[in-house]
Amino acid sequence: MADDIILKADNLFKHYPIRDGILRSTGKQNVKAVDGVSFELRRGETLGIVGESGCGKSTLGRMLMRLEEPTAGTLNFDGHDMYSLNSKEMRAVRRDIQIVFQDPYTSLNPRKTVGDIIGEPFDIHQDVVPKAGRKKAVQELLELVGLNPEHISRYPHQFSGGQRQRIGIARGIALRPKVLICDEPVSALDVSVQAQVINLMEKLQNELGLSYVFIAHDLSVVRHISDRVGVMYLGRMVELGTEEEIYQRPTHPYTQALLSAVPVPDPTMRGKREQIVLTGDVPSPANPPSGCRFHTRCFKAQERCSVDDPELIDRPDGVAAHRSACLFAEPRVIVETIDVTHVEPDARFATTDVVDQAAFGEDAETEPADAAAMAERSEATVGSEGRQSSTQDNLLVVDDEPDEKRDPRV
Ligand SMILES: Nc1ncnc2c1ncn2[C@@H]1O[C@H](COP(=O)(O)OP(=O)(O)OP(=O)(O)O)[C@@H](O)[C@H]1O
Ligand code: SF4
Ligand SMILES: [Mg+2]
Repeated sequence: MADDIILKADNLFKHYPIRDGILRSTGKQNVKAVDGVSFELRRGETLGIVGESGCGKSTLGRMLMRLEEPTAGTLNFDGHDMYSLNSKEMRAVRRDIQIVFQDPYTSLNPRKTVGDIIGEPFDIHQDVVPKAGRKKAVQELLELVGLNPEHISRYPHQFSGGQRQRIGIARGIALRPKVLICDEPVSALDVSVQAQVINLMEKLQNELGLSYVFIAHDLSVVRHISDRVGVMYLGRMVELGTEEEIYQRPTHPYTQALLSAVPVPDPTMRGKREQIVLTGDVPSPANPPSGCRFHTRCFKAQERCSVDDPELIDRPDGVAAHRSACLFAEPRVIVETIDVTHVEPDARFATTDVVDQAAFGEDAETEPADAAAMAERSEATVGSEGRQSSTQDNLLVVDDEPDEKRDPRV
């Protein structure tokens, strides 16, 4: 593995057995949540992962931390063959790869103080900070994420959503990991607070040299923060390239359709942009279409597409080449047709201060988000709902419990 690559996924699969009732596997079909995904993460970069709800983003994120055992595939993290490590070795490696979840309301234990929550990784990895120095270490972390160190004894409910996400991030970086997997870390937050958290993440990346895998629905957030972007569809990665390649010369029809749904910043241009409307529902991941699995919804599909399964390989994009899984890949300028070429990728994030001033006030809550901005924002999300989704809410299928009962993140 090249030196600049810190994480390399090779042909990862995660299939969940479909169970009849609670326990019995039907033995017939599997939900193919992740179905042959390969990519690499470079040191210090942010790799954004986008795709519609249910396409396997969170499953992939959990696999990267081995919170899920793979059905097949290999994962190399900083020289370690992750899936062949025993639990002791795995615990040592987890110091260097951590996760931040979407929902700051449910991912923090309400009965623990912020000090206990952020300090928990130090209890598990006792050699990192000596016991006597833990309070100070936690206070430093609070300060680093823009929270008041004096609030160390408060409980999660005493913080706003944005502040709670900062607590989640502080916990995620407590052990000074090399990689942070961020699964929709700002999707549950108001727009103004999203910007603060994104700015904080960029600041931490610069200061601590972190690499991020940043999973999100929101294409403009992903564009703002990512160096490279992977687009997922039905358990597969269908396009992978630099931010510029994906947003300015996408070659996969699915990416082009997603981009065409991004709202136009200039109101006079609204209605003039090209919009590619995808027809049909997302097929079931238990029974993906033959050939190219996007063919049932693709506006360019031809006969061959239902037979041949296109590989994710370099294909010409008009300037050079980048990875795309389309048999008829060709660049189509989507962003320029909506005339945002001269707009900063995301000007909304330019002016917000990193420090959450509210944290230093009296239990201050987040600012109410501007309603119009929120409406526009929800349009910019992948899929129709723009909701904070969790496909796991309505599962008929349950996977085996994690092997360890304690919090598996640390
Ligand atoms: N533990 C599980 N058991 C069975 N099926 C699962 C499990 N976890 C996820 N799935 C299924 O795998 C598929 C991918 O789910 P996943 O949560 O990874 O999608 P996602 O892209 O993160 O979606 P969202 O955007 O809604 O968060 C879905 O069909 C989901 O129902
Ligand atoms: S291979 Fe065919 S169906 Fe698949 S994305 Fe390309 S044109 Fe569409
Ligand atoms: Mg998810």
